[in-house]
Amino acid sequence: MYEDRIRYAALRDRIITADEAATLIKDGMTVGISGFTRAGDAKEVPLALAQRVKRTGEKVKINLWTGASVAEEVDRALTEAGCLARRLPYQSEKLLRDAINRGEVMYVDQHLSLTVEMVRDGQLGKLDVAVIEAVAITEDGNIIPSTSVGNSPTFVKMADKVIVELNIGQPAALEGMHDVFIPGDRPDREPIPILEVNDRIGTTYISVDPDKIAGVVITNKLDHFSAIAPVDEETEAIANHLLNFFEDEILAGRMDDKLRPLQSGIGSVANAVLSGLKKSRFKGLEMYSEVLQDSVFELIDAGTLRFASGCSITLSPARAQEVLDRIAEYRDAIVLRPQEISNSPGLVRRLGLIAMNTAIEVDIYGNVNSTHVMGTRMMNGIGGSGDFARNASVTIFVTKSTAKGGAISSIVPMASHVDHTEHDVDIIVTEQGLADLRGLAPRERAQVIIKNCAHPMYRDALMDYYQEAVTLGGHTPHVLDKALSWHSRYLKEGTMRLPVHELS
Ligand code: COA
Repeated sequence: MYEDRIRYAALRDRIITADEAATLIKDGMTVGISGFTRAGDAKEVPLALAQRVKRTGEKVKINLWTGASVAEEVDRALTEAGCLARRLPYQSEKLLRDAINRGEVMYVDQHLSLTVEMVRDGQLGKLDVAVIEAVAITEDGNIIPSTSVGNSPTFVKMADKVIVELNIGQPAALEGMHDVFIPGDRPDREPIPILEVNDRIGTTYISVDPDKIAGVVITNKLDHFSAIAPVDEETEAIANHLLNFFEDEILAGRMDDKLRPLQSGIGSVANAVLSGLKKSRFKGLEMYSEVLQDSVFELIDAGTLRFASGCSITLSPARAQEVLDRIAEYRDAIVLRPQEISNSPGLVRRLGLIAMNTAIEVDIYGNVNSTHVMGTRMMNGIGGSGDFARNASVTIFVTKSTAKGGAISSIVPMASHVDHTEHDVDIIVTEQGLADLRGLAPRERAQVIIKNCAHPMYRDALMDYYQEAVTLGGHTPHVLDKALSWHSRYLKEGTMRLPVHELS
């Protein structure tokens, strides 16, 4: 069954069970596992570790590094077993999120392009074990990754020991889709030679000294993707505002019909926005992004998208089987790269991307919070949004104008946490409208954001705040005593809305 997937014969003698592999992970170790937005993650070995620790009560606390989020059950099981001391660079699992917010797991929320630079420089300490999901091992013992590349090439390079999870449930046809490249050491690094989104610059495999492979675990478990909320009235309105914006850019001569290579963040809103392009007249579009979601495959099928470069294929459970069964058909339209290449700030700047990411809240001056609910509670993490936002040719943030049934305004006087500063943000879009902030000073920005993006229920109160702030002066006027009062009101009263008698 799996012999043809392990083409380096000597490794067939190193097949071990997940339980045996898990014994190689000891208390205090740092473990790097494959996986990016729940795709291509090591599944069985981390689960076997968690199950053993839960069963025996032994103390094993590890530092866990990944590409981005991994299967829910992996982060959940390791959290439940109390195995996580430190976690980086991104997660999106509820139980782990709660443990992070209770201060039980030290979470390092990093730009996703950055982790491996720090790992290779030794800035994060030594990597003991890498656990990497593969669809095959080549004749020379190299590793063919599965549905993501993520940080795996550097984890394999830097780890003392490598465990391969050979997943025979993942399509063998994924082989050939990857382009693995590790930039040279700094400060003498050569430029990364990508000039077009579809350029290939590396190998189809992750290089490894086969002697470092301590064991091969045969697995057969599909990626555990999560459902994406369907397009609704609000996300459709956001998509329409964006389509109009693109048309205006073309009319103004700043873009042609191919637009610029697109990057789109993860999540329901981002997926809906991308799906909106299906009804557009644009053809031959290109993506240079990190996650390739359902909408990417729909756009390729519709002939709207010519090529997509990413670092993982993350599908909804409803679409996963069908797309993976047809994966060979997408071979000429897709490349999967390490996340330091898909998110490389230099390449994002060189290719002039249009970056579209999601905000939790935006303040009236255009500072964006993508991570912390009410300024304190971690949601998921910054992910790749910062890699793209600072360097894209047009940086767009989208959000619904309210959350929690209208009790929260996503446009606030002052962002309670800032991931993307006003200097990195060009366009804000809500279902209410679009604010083009390019070339505007803070006092101009505030008026456009409030007028175009705030929900009518909050618009007057935001304008009252701004006008009071202006009386106090300043380049970026604020009433410091009131700047975060909307957040404290929500925490105390369950709504950001002012009592009626306080409305002017
Ligand atoms: N205050 C409090 N909660 C808010 C909020 C706000 N201003 N805005 C949104 N939320 C909550 C929603 O109510 C929802 O909560 P629920 O899960 O309990 O229902 C949750 O945040 C998700 O919001 P939703 O509107 O469904 O959007 P989403 O699924 O697109 O997620 C982010 C939005 C910002 C959380 C998500 O995109 C993210 O984590 N982004 C940061 C990382 C990133 O950009 N990665 C991609 C880079 S390439």
